[in-house]
Amino acid sequence: LFVGDVDFLKGVVAMDGLPPDDRAEVCFAGRSNVGKSSLINALTGRKGLARASNTPGRTQEINYFKLGSERFLVDLPGYGFANAPVAVVAKWQALLKSYLAGRVSLRRAFVLVDFRHGIKPVDDEIMTLLDRSAVTFQVVLTKADKVKAAEQDAILAQVRERLSKHPAAYPEIVVTSSEKGEGIASLRATIAGLA
Ligand code: GTP
Ligand code: MG
Repeated sequence: LFVGDVDFLKGVVAMDGLPPDDRAEVCFAGRSNVGKSSLINALTGRKGLARASNTPGRTQEINYFKLGSERFLVDLPGYGFANAPVAVVAKWQALLKSYLAGRVSLRRAFVLVDFRHGIKPVDDEIMTLLDRSAVTFQVVLTKADKVKAAEQDAILAQVRERLSKHPAAYPEIVVTSSEKGEGIASLRATIAGLA
């Protein structure tokens, strides 16, 4: 489904720039630098499709990718710390919140959480916004290659405990490494199944 059938559509800086909402879409949200753009590249098998970098705040627009003829993948700017002026960051954050709360064609929000760090207060805030807007969200743990097996269970327990407080949370957690390919096929299948 993904490989060879994906193209960049546009970068959006205001709600009125969003494409028509007649296709199902899924989005990738999460703190700056968590690995949203890298995950899109891993899912699509296209390394430079979404621009990734080690500088938090790399993605500054809502980037739309067409996936086949029926779906959009949406790469979002990060929340939390970013390497950009405060006023600029405030503008993307407002856009991000309007998008997450008000996009009717959004089938699921994937909320990416760095496996090393677990769920932080800013993640909880976004999850609460998704609860209020009744947008189903699913946590994707990223950078699993950076966490030792012995440390994984305690972090998973923290994540499960936090998710239990969020009515819009989908209970299954996806563990991924864009670097190593872990969890990528399973996430592709999940997205393919969201009509
Ligand atoms: P913003 O657009 O700034 O919000 O960041 P982002 O969430 O899109 O993160 P991005 O994909 O740009 O990745 C940030 C950094 O994390 C880059 O240096 C990536 O190479 C690195 N990274 C992403 N995924 C992985 C992973 O699975 N494993 C490891 N080790 N590094 C990763
Ligand atoms: Mg990005």
